[in-house]
Amino acid sequence: MAQGLLIIWHSRTGASQAMACAAHAGAMTELGSRLSSAEETSPADMLESAGYLFCFPENLGSMSGEMKAFFDRSYYPLLGQLEGRPYASIIAAGSGGDGAQLQLDRIVTGWRLRRVAEAMIHCTTAQTPEAILAPKTVSDEVLQACHSLGQGIAAGMSLGVF
Ligand SMILES: Cc1cc2nc3c(=O)[nH]c(=O)nc-3n(C[C@H](O)[C@H](O)[C@H](O)COP(=O)(O)O)c2cc1C
Repeated sequence: MAQGLLIIWHSRTGASQAMACAAHAGAMTELGSRLSSAEETSPADMLESAGYLFCFPENLGSMSGEMKAFFDRSYYPLLGQLEGRPYASIIAAGSGGDGAQLQLDRIVTGWRLRRVAEAMIHCTTAQTPEAILAPKTVSDEVLQACHSLGQGIAAGMSLGVF
């Protein structure tokens, strides 16, 4: 039987990874939660999990290539098998994020996943090439929001609300 929350992440400069870890820590207080990089997540991992949190950066106006590759690999093997399962998302962006957000929502509509928490987009405000490519530090306040998001989804799942 499918169980627990699977947090699937990709990060180029560290922000999404830090936010995924914070959400994982929050979810662990309520329910089984697993962190899995987009590169390593298989369709079997998806089938074994009861809900999903996608955490990744916007790159060039859409989801990062590694995250897209995960969906390209998994979409048809899982089509028709995840109907109604809950999902949420955390996106790291410089100043945008909406393109990646919309792309995610369109893809998982095909799987008939159900969004159970408002989309979270964290903008780092990096503008120059140097700042964009530099390793990122995420504030405690944002990490706390990610922790709460993970905890809230996991609580909803364990109570059967989602
Ligand atoms: C190749 C590349 C393309 C990017 N394109 C966008 C973009 O289209 N919109 C945006 O808001 N930020 C863009 N960014 C900024 C990242 O989304 C931002 O720095 C984010 O915090 C990175 O998350 P990460 O540390 O998890 O990789 C881009 C960064 C890179 C490296």
